[in-house]
Amino acid sequence: MADFSGFYKLTVAERRRLIKEHAGITDEEMAALSDMGALKPELADRMVENVIGAVHLPLGVATNFKINGNAMNIPMALEEPSVIAAACRAAKLCLPEGFKAEADEPVMTGQVQLMDVPDMDLAIKNLDTNRHEILKIAAEYMKPHERWGGKVLGFRERALETQRGRMLLVEFDINVSDAMGANMVNTTLEGVAPTLATLTNGRVCLRIITNLAVKRKVRASAVWKKDVLGEKTIEGILDGYELARADIYRCATHNKGIMNGIDAVVIATGNDWRAVEAGAHAYASMGEYHPLTRYEKTGKGDLLGSIELPMAVATVGGAVNSSPTAKAALKIAGIKTSKELAMACACVGLANNFGALAALSSVGIQAGHMKLHAKNVAVIAGAQTPEEIDAVAAELAEKKNFGSDFAKEVLERIRSK
Ligand code: MEV
Repeated sequence: MADFSGFYKLTVAERRRLIKEHAGITDEEMAALSDMGALKPELADRMVENVIGAVHLPLGVATNFKINGNAMNIPMALEEPSVIAAACRAAKLCLPEGFKAEADEPVMTGQVQLMDVPDMDLAIKNLDTNRHEILKIAAEYMKPHERWGGKVLGFRERALETQRGRMLLVEFDINVSDAMGANMVNTTLEGVAPTLATLTNGRVCLRIITNLAVKRKVRASAVWKKDVLGEKTIEGILDGYELARADIYRCATHNKGIMNGIDAVVIATGNDWRAVEAGAHAYASMGEYHPLTRYEKTGKGDLLGSIELPMAVATVGGAVNSSPTAKAALKIAGIKTSKELAMACACVGLANNFGALAALSSVGIQAGHMKLHAKNVAVIAGAQTPEEIDAVAAELAEKKNFGSDFAKEVLERIRSK
């Protein structure tokens, strides 16, 4: 493993060189990254409608991660300062053991909604009697994905009382392998739905995957040692965590901090972050809205942190295939399967939550945050060279004044020297 200590002190060019050598990134892949994620207009125009441009986010790398014994650099794409630094720091603090993680099989669930079913009991009986036939029809639609491990696993029925009357839901579990699965699940549901309508005498309405992917959860944990953290930090983290358990207003922000890290990895790897967000918050709401992480003290007084949430992420298909930066990001992390990616996401989410709680319960987050934000303000005020940016940012941080007018004043003074 190459030495990534002090990675943050390198220039962008030096970081690129190190990552390129370490991860075996080709010149072409590096060109895509170096081009700041330039998406060719022809490609963008095929991805979505009415294209006029592309929005860029900085892509950084979280170092120090060790997951199940494997050292890993994890790409993160986001606009918020401090998040990548916090992840790196939290990951470093739990070394040499690092994180333990495990991911469920990539099983997604899709729902077919049947309305106007005249006899619910008879409909369910008919579906059960014809189970084999229904699964055979559904399997036809999964044929193209079979060789990658895609497979319809089964279905179950659920009757719902609603304000628009009774509805019958038929829910299919499908192993989607390394894909996110929405396309293959939805195609399969649309394919099998007419058969379900015939067997139930019902009317097909919605046929769609659920983003609450409870069969595709990921779990991760880490122990932060008392000797490293100090008892005060551990107590502070436990107090902060308890507030999230007791109060939904804090809990929303607690979970937002987790998603800071997770979304950044999901976006860097070309995945559907809205799906992951929807799954995470719906899962957090099962029972009572709760924190996605847990903290407790071990018998030795160390801090054990853990996380569990659904994680429908892919290493093939969709934007993952069409985005050269997403492919390079997966390569940088050495991630091949959707389960590996899910585990990396969970570890980063836990790391960011640990980092936020440690900072919030001690010095607060603003000092570090504003130091980085000061660089943005300096650039907006017109600072151009790295020296100008650093000098302006340093003075803004020192005077604790981050106003753009003050930044312009400082810049003018520096330039006139
Ligand atoms: C800011 O983006 C995230 C935090 O608010 C998370 C938290 O409060 O736990 C710092």
